[in-house]
Amino acid sequence: MNQPIKTRPERYRAREQALAYHASAHGNGRPGISQRLELAAVRRALAATAGDTVLDVPCGTGRIDELLRERFDEIVGADSSVPMLSVYNDGNVSRRSCCADIFHLPFDDASFDWVICHRYFHHLKNEADRAAVLASLRRVCRQGVVFYAWLNTTFARRRGSMRTSISRGRVEAAVDAAGMRIRSMHRCAGPFSVKTIVVCTRQ
Ligand SMILES: C[S@@+](CC[C@H](N)C(=O)[O-])C[C@H]1O[C@@H](n2cnc3c(N)ncnc32)[C@H](O)[C@@H]1O
Repeated sequence: MNQPIKTRPERYRAREQALAYHASAHGNGRPGISQRLELAAVRRALAATAGDTVLDVPCGTGRIDELLRERFDEIVGADSSVPMLSVYNDGNVSRRSCCADIFHLPFDDASFDWVICHRYFHHLKNEADRAAVLASLRRVCRQGVVFYAWLNTTFARRRGSMRTSISRGRVEAAVDAAGMRIRSMHRCAGPFSVKTIVVCTRQ
């Protein structure tokens, strides 16, 4: 397995941290405007998808599960953290999940209609990793991939030790290198936020 990305790894090591992540991902019961705008953008992006099956990777504790259930009959969640998966599996016995490395997914080619990758891509540090992850996601989908990225805008760009925004050109190059093309992009808050949901299809 590749080294898990350095996304504040302490958040994913134990069940208590996974429970805290889960509560915060849901706004501790009161989702803020930023969370609501993000989910609205995911919903707009998913409107372009159709099919029966979806892979949610990394699924974390299931932040977008409800939105996926609106469109797909069968959802499989995959994540490299066992504590995150244990919270993901809580409360819904019908969930299918597995512990997996996003770079080396344990599924046959074209196993799912769509693959969604939420809040992961912006943690990747270089073009090789970005292209490798998109190629891995493309391999297991029949139709396309929806992924969350941080894209520079005229008014916003962000760079931290854990996450970074990149140019639209870099995203296009990574999608192209993975054998896909961009169908649509959905900004979470117009040009004022880097948060973007990208929908791409297999070429
Ligand atoms: C920022 S969280 C996002 C989770 C979820 N998609 C969400 O929106 O809440 C990042 C997730 O990536 C998982 N992760 C880190 N490296 C991974 C890898 N190589 N393969 C699969 N999952 C990984 C972590 O365990 C964590 O659940």
